[in-house]
Amino acid sequence: MSANENVLVGVIGGSGLYHLDNLTFIKHVNPETPWGFPSSPISICALPSGTKVAFIARHAAGHIINPSQVPSRANIAALKFLGVRAILAFSAVGSLREEIAPGDFALPTQIIDRTKGIRPSSFFEDTSVVAHTGFGDPFANKFINWLETRVRKVLEESGNGAKLHTDKCIVCMEGPQFSTRAESKMYRLWGGDLINMSVIPEAKLAREAELSYALIATATDYDSWRENESSVTAADVFKTLSTNAELSRKVAFAVLDELNEAAKEGDILTEEVGCMKFAIMPRS
Ligand code: ADE
Repeated sequence: MSANENVLVGVIGGSGLYHLDNLTFIKHVNPETPWGFPSSPISICALPSGTKVAFIARHAAGHIINPSQVPSRANIAALKFLGVRAILAFSAVGSLREEIAPGDFALPTQIIDRTKGIRPSSFFEDTSVVAHTGFGDPFANKFINWLETRVRKVLEESGNGAKLHTDKCIVCMEGPQFSTRAESKMYRLWGGDLINMSVIPEAKLAREAELSYALIATATDYDSWRENESSVTAADVFKTLSTNAELSRKVAFAVLDELNEAAKEGDILTEEVGCMKFAIMPRS
């Protein structure tokens, strides 16, 4: 396992986001964790201020890992061991709501997990430790509140019309096939606003690792719930991926320095640090 690099902030890039902009590349690290290697070697980069950040491409460069096979335990463990305290994750998502248009960004606060039991989603699996981690608020809410004004400012300044939606519920489905029309409509009835294939188990594992995790969801399509419209295809998703990735890079660049300072002071991270203290079941 690689030594602590004193990197406080980790960025996980989703579909289309395989690198960040305006950073100076320092080195790649590829630590072997007890759960294997991360999706791709982790880039340690410096912002103009000298602040170091760690970047992982969730699906690897060239998008070669499908969502069900992402080694999330290795990704989160590797970031933790590098010293990371806050993870800013990006993910392409489908929209389950008319008002969330392709090209818009969202900060979800809730998750409906439709991957249950299929993906390894706990560091405690196959161990003799029984841990029931609090996950009622699956994202780091203080971190999300902190992000809101900053992300909105970048979107407004970009002038491309992208809106920011807050307080949304994301459905994480298994894939790799997209949802049926019936499923897409059912998720809307359940209260889902967004849909992706990646936020679980990442968010669960970040919580178990006591890391503050926020997701910036970037909408690419309307999934398959709209009457008289064709159902989503990979080509629809690809159409908006590069514009969304470009804007995601602007957002990341705008917030990373300040996020690093906030992570140092611990202010926005207070909810997660120590959260596992009472999660482990005592042995009788
Ligand atoms: N990622 C992007 N669009 C999606 C959709 N419609 N369903 C699941 N994951 C997605």
